Amino acid sequence: MKLKFLTILILVVLMSSCGGEKAKEEVAKEPEKKEVTKEKEPEKIDPMKDKGVGPIKSLTLGDIDNALAEKGKEIFRAKCTACHKMTKRFVGPPLAGVTKKQTPEWIMNMILNPEVMVVENAKAKELLMEYSAPMANQNLTEEEARAVLEYFRTKN
Ligand code: HEC
Repeated sequence: MKLKFLTILILVVLMSSCGGEKAKEEVAKEPEKKEVTKEKEPEKIDPMKDKGVGPIKSLTLGDIDNALAEKGKEIFRAKCTACHKMTKRFVGPPLAGVTKKQTPEWIMNMILNPEVMVVENAKAKELLMEYSAPMANQNLTEEEARAVLEYFRTKN
């Protein structure tokens, strides 16, 4: 009787330790799995295809228009520098290079429709968590937001 009990005990211990190992292995493997099999996460949109949510559905960019960028720079100075610097983290993220990180549509929608973006767009939600302050709607017109985008294109 005693022997049988001991065998069961050993088995139970072995099994549970095996289970533990497996769980640990899975946790350790998690990051590389994500990179290799992207199709396993359909809810995450490729950041360079993510247009965000808002009035801008599709935008085709030509060569940089310097006059427009200059207008954008003025608008940026007046309405955005309270929270953004170009190369340093401030209340919001640094914005130099943002056109390499986000699509032009996403950037304009973030400017024109931030309240909805931080609720419905995964990338904007992540930023809200990271900066724990919401991006403010500065009530720019579409033309003004387009000019700011042109300015960002000169800051890559
Ligand atoms: C009151 C502060 C505030 C003002 C004013 C503000 N922003 Fe923001 N912005 C933020 C914060 C904070 C974030 C990070 C996202 C979030 O928390 O919602 C952000 C995010 C962004 C992003 C996304 C950055 C990235 O890394 O993808 C862009 C683009 C942006 N802002 C552009 C602008 C522009 C253009 C203006 C001026 C018209 C502006 N912001 C004015 C606070 C502000």
